[in-house]
Amino acid sequence: MLKVDFNNMTSDIIGDEHGINIAIQSVKDKDWINSAFNFVKSKEGKDWQEWMSMPHMDTKYIDEIVEYGKTIKDTCTDLVVFGIGGSALGVQSVATALTHLRYNSISHATRKAPRLYVEDNVDPNRMSSLLDVIDIENAHFIVTTKSGNTSETLAQFLYVYDLLVKKLGKDKAKKSITVITSFGKGDIFGVAKAQGFKMYEVPKGAGGRFSVLSVVGLVAFACIGLDIKQLLKGAGDFQNKCFVNDIYKNPALMTAYLQVLNMQRGKNIGVMMPYADGLKYFADFYAQLWAESLGKAVDLDGNTVHVGQTPVKSLGATDQHSMVQLFNEGPFDKVITFITVQDFCNKIKIPKVDGIDIGDFLSGHTFAELLSAERVATEYAVTKTQKPNYNIILDKLNPYTIGELLAYLMMQTAFAGALLNIDTYNQPGVEQGKVSTFAMLDRNGYEADKQEILSISKKKELII
Ligand code: PA5
Repeated sequence: MLKVDFNNMTSDIIGDEHGINIAIQSVKDKDWINSAFNFVKSKEGKDWQEWMSMPHMDTKYIDEIVEYGKTIKDTCTDLVVFGIGGSALGVQSVATALTHLRYNSISHATRKAPRLYVEDNVDPNRMSSLLDVIDIENAHFIVTTKSGNTSETLAQFLYVYDLLVKKLGKDKAKKSITVITSFGKGDIFGVAKAQGFKMYEVPKGAGGRFSVLSVVGLVAFACIGLDIKQLLKGAGDFQNKCFVNDIYKNPALMTAYLQVLNMQRGKNIGVMMPYADGLKYFADFYAQLWAESLGKAVDLDGNTVHVGQTPVKSLGATDQHSMVQLFNEGPFDKVITFITVQDFCNKIKIPKVDGIDIGDFLSGHTFAELLSAERVATEYAVTKTQKPNYNIILDKLNPYTIGELLAYLMMQTAFAGALLNIDTYNQPGVEQGKVSTFAMLDRNGYEADKQEILSISKKKELII
């Protein structure tokens, strides 16, 4: 079960200057909150909010994914996901949260599923080193790209497919690839059809960063044996809570509202600090969701706004020894989000060692108690220095609570975008990067873009 403790955002706790008197402020903002809620509600499951219908997917479709995943799980040594941004981060964050923390290092007999590699970058050393560790002939490759055109993913696919055909021949090689893409458009679609790869369609209204509960995430999860039905159940149940038009009953609406108020007060940095290694990549997932969705130049009325809150990824307790100094004593420009796991289901204890006279205060405590004490200490410290902060609390890490967490983060983003009156679902800045990459690689039709890029780089004189 997921709960959100937002006490430390209030003026009662952190004072009037940096805290919010929610009872008074929310009455003043009643119409604004209402219209943002109604905007999101009116599009539930429609257009770019089609992702909200994923938790309620047809069970037959889910059964087919589970079945297909099982064949890969039972027969392959390695599962490699090629994708970037929204086509990678959801898979990485959920898989890390729900598998053994040293998943790829434990024996196959214990894992009972393939090793998992989520490959979201094209550093040449990364590709070479991947091929050094996987058993390519017994591996399966999922190529995920909603647009079907992303250079990084296409390059990875080309490189590996070429190798597979050389090693296995075309007939066997094609069985090693699954393509997840939009049907009827993009470069990979036609290729996948012609080659006869297994394909899944990314739903039209599930943009990359909102697609984890579609086939983009589910196929990979099924291949490593995660319980995708519980994941969807957790997400669906939590989403229902987010369609209650009352900020005191709707955690995603409440924290979206408090975050946006803080942005308006110049707190343009959003720190995400899970206190659990399993949730480390959720900071990356949140960073993409929050940055790409809310970082916008214009609002829906065409006004220039340049809004957004810069996400900062942090990990407790590790970053207490690097970042927390800044969070405590630095500028009042941040909102800090903690994620807490109440029960790690792991009771390993710090022992009392005969003849060793250190750490009496440590001995006898579990590691979980130490981590929890550290989180409470950090929360206390940033609260004392009047930094707004809130805490997402998961009772345990399991498919149900991870589903809730995904739904919470996505719904919070949807409400924040509506409150900011921006287009939450476009990403012109990302598309620009893709176009510029095509241009620099001399793709036909992008000659003018290349000339413009070169004209700027010609002016660079300040390099020493
Ligand atoms: O959220 C987004 O839309 C982006 O981050 C995309 O997921 C990313 O650019 C990858 O795009 P694609 O899935 O089309 O390859």
